[in-house]
Amino acid sequence: MTVRRLTALRLRAVGAVLALVAGILAATIGTAGTAQAASSLPCDVYAAAGTPCVAAHSTTRALLASYSGALYQVKRLSDNATTNIGTLSAGGYANAAAQDSFCSGTECIITEIFDQSGKGNHLTIEGPGGNGGQDVGAIANALPVTAGGHKVYGVSVQAGVGYRDNSTNGIATGSRPEGTYMVTSGHHVDGNCCFDYGNAETNSKDTGNGHMDAVNFGTECWFSPCSGSGPWVMGDLENGLFAGGNGTNGNNTGNSSAFVTALLKNNGTSTYAIKDGNAQSGSLKTDYNGSLPTTGGYIPMSKEGAIVLGTGGDDSNWSDGSFFEGVMTSGYPTDAADNAVQADIVSVGYTQAAQTFPVTGTAYRLTNANSGKVLDAQNCGTANGTAVQLWASLGNTCQQWKFSSAGNGHYTITNVNSGTVLDDKNCGIGNGTATQLWSSLANTCQQWDVTPAGSHYTISNVNSGMTLDVTNCGTANGTLVRQWAQLDNACQQWDIAP
Ligand code: AHR
Repeated sequence: MTVRRLTALRLRAVGAVLALVAGILAATIGTAGTAQAASSLPCDVYAAAGTPCVAAHSTTRALLASYSGALYQVKRLSDNATTNIGTLSAGGYANAAAQDSFCSGTECIITEIFDQSGKGNHLTIEGPGGNGGQDVGAIANALPVTAGGHKVYGVSVQAGVGYRDNSTNGIATGSRPEGTYMVTSGHHVDGNCCFDYGNAETNSKDTGNGHMDAVNFGTECWFSPCSGSGPWVMGDLENGLFAGGNGTNGNNTGNSSAFVTALLKNNGTSTYAIKDGNAQSGSLKTDYNGSLPTTGGYIPMSKEGAIVLGTGGDDSNWSDGSFFEGVMTSGYPTDAADNAVQADIVSVGYTQAAQTFPVTGTAYRLTNANSGKVLDAQNCGTANGTAVQLWASLGNTCQQWKFSSAGNGHYTITNVNSGTVLDDKNCGIGNGTATQLWSSLANTCQQWDVTPAGSHYTISNVNSGMTLDVTNCGTANGTLVRQWAQLDNACQQWDIAP
């Protein structure tokens, strides 16, 4: 063999090694690059990592770069007509202007949230279950936010609102692995069961431990003690909201950011992990990564493969929450993929629309949209426990109310005559719980959310998650004003004007 031939062979060998190294490097960088590229949305990331989405739901944006179909459907209550809201472009943001135009002058509700994964796992309004009645749709314009610089709407879940698909395709069953995340809000939560997104029972009933695998977010401390006051990202694995381990986990310290990434993954046979992150910045924190609960029924899991949004597996529907986007995967996602998804979520730049109404300090009358009567302190009472009712407008201060900020977008509502505040009686959480006047206690039972409902507003209690409601839709003077699960009717809607 000549020296030239030997050199050529050596060069070829060196070249081959270099090519191999370059190939590995390219593959490595390519994976990371793909995951973080602007065109690589959450389901592109999970697909590239070998754990494709089998459900992808959002009212704010496409979750795959190629997706240009409908995101969700709204129904107009004036004539029951429906329309689908799509994206502005493939892989882009929701066309909220189409919703505004279609719903102009009336109220719309979100009737369906389409699955972008191609599996057909669309969510429709949940029917009755083992522990809750027929649900209603979220009010379509109740949760305006900005994403990618565009005005879009999230799904505002109040007590009584829920979505479900009990007949799915490709969702994990039995002990098969899956990952789930949702983007939610730490400013719209409560301690009632159960603001969930993910795997649940196909018959809408509690069928036992291990029959659910849904990510939960809220302030319900199911397994005491919990660390701090939450809200926490937890795993609803059925008959328990698990902060990690067998339920309690001091490392799960909660996340009250305006936008929260809530993530749960479960390999079905031995391990689960919980992560949370500020969806506006930074990375994910691993709250738990270890054994599935050893308390019976969770090893192995018995996933059933339905999908629930906004309620528990048995339709326990007393919780509040906000939903902007979420996916479920086939397979247990890698941490690298989770991190890339979080980076993509942060790049969206979710921001809350500034709440400029009602103006704090202004004396308003609250006129019921069904009856035309106003919210009134019974007999102009000033004592704690004074009932709150409807009455024809009298122009006095017993019928005037001032809003002041209680933080996180919540309000305290003060009666101008008495100086006492609108209160959820005994901090009740059930349908029919009374409202009354009480001196200020600075607790969530005396805090209220004011959210758009078409051209009117709903007023809902932060503690109960219930909506300010007129008893039996009465119209007579003296009809008591109480709290009830959201019903999407005018008896629960109010005009707020001086
Ligand atoms: O695991 C918590 C809740 O318990 C489930 O969501 C519900 O099905 C049951 O009531």
